[in-house]
Amino acid sequence: MRRMLIVGIGSGDPDHLTLQAIKALQRVDVLFFIDKGAAKDELIRLRRVICEPHMTSRAYRTVIITDPPRDRRPERYEQTVRAWHEQRVAEYQRAISTELADGECGAFLVWGDPSLYDSTLRIFEKITAKGVLPLALEVIPGITSIQALAARHAICLNKIGGPVHITTGRELARCLPTESDNVVVMLDGEVTLDGVDPDATMIHWGAYVGTEHEILRSGLVRDVLPELQRVRREAREAHGWIMDTYVLSKIPQR
Ligand SMILES: C[S@@+](CC[C@H](N)C(=O)[O-])C[C@H]1O[C@@H](n2cnc3c(N)ncnc32)[C@H](O)[C@@H]1O
Repeated sequence: MRRMLIVGIGSGDPDHLTLQAIKALQRVDVLFFIDKGAAKDELIRLRRVICEPHMTSRAYRTVIITDPPRDRRPERYEQTVRAWHEQRVAEYQRAISTELADGECGAFLVWGDPSLYDSTLRIFEKITAKGVLPLALEVIPGITSIQALAARHAICLNKIGGPVHITTGRELARCLPTESDNVVVMLDGEVTLDGVDPDATMIHWGAYVGTEHEILRSGLVRDVLPELQRVRREAREAHGWIMDTYVLSKIPQR
């Protein structure tokens, strides 16, 4: 039986790698990386910077899987993403069956935690369901970008006893913060905050949190949004990519 570790590695700070992740990495025979194109090379480099210092005790091989191309602005979002996932399933399965021998241990490194806006577990669910490539799967949790952001701003995510809604920039307009719940937004390409009340909403924002390029901003949306958008645009141009997350919190009105 082949063993496969899905290892959450935190979202940028090498010190966020857990002891459990370090122990897992030390059992790896084959480390699989996903090549997502030139602009994302930096993310493979960062994964190596975070993990390789802990992988010196034994030899391991590295395999790069080329990610199938994806339509970034599809008309039918869910269907397009599903079709793209099917292609990924085939690519992962081919790479594992040819590069990982029976009895060996492989690993995929997942940014943050595998349970949050990451397709790796869904892909492995599909591979397992097909029943043609038996795998012993082990998931190692990691620190999410949300936890890293909350720590850097020293904030609680929830109001007292209240819920926290986690969503994407695409869905924000459908779940704006109320006075009782806070909204965490990830995967937002523009940060326009359409529909958010700028005079009654606080934002805690962070880009590249935990990395050497970290940028943090917080305040009333009306006060900070224009500068935040400018800083964000400039950072994205300078690095060729950006990963940012923010928490929106409605201020109670009298
Ligand atoms: C594909 S999701 C991956 C989330 C990841 N699994 C996690 O646990 O945080 C990518 C999104 O995570 C957020 N993100 C990841 N790393 C980040 C970082 N270092 N700083 C701020 N946001 C980050 C951004 O919202 C980005 O668009």
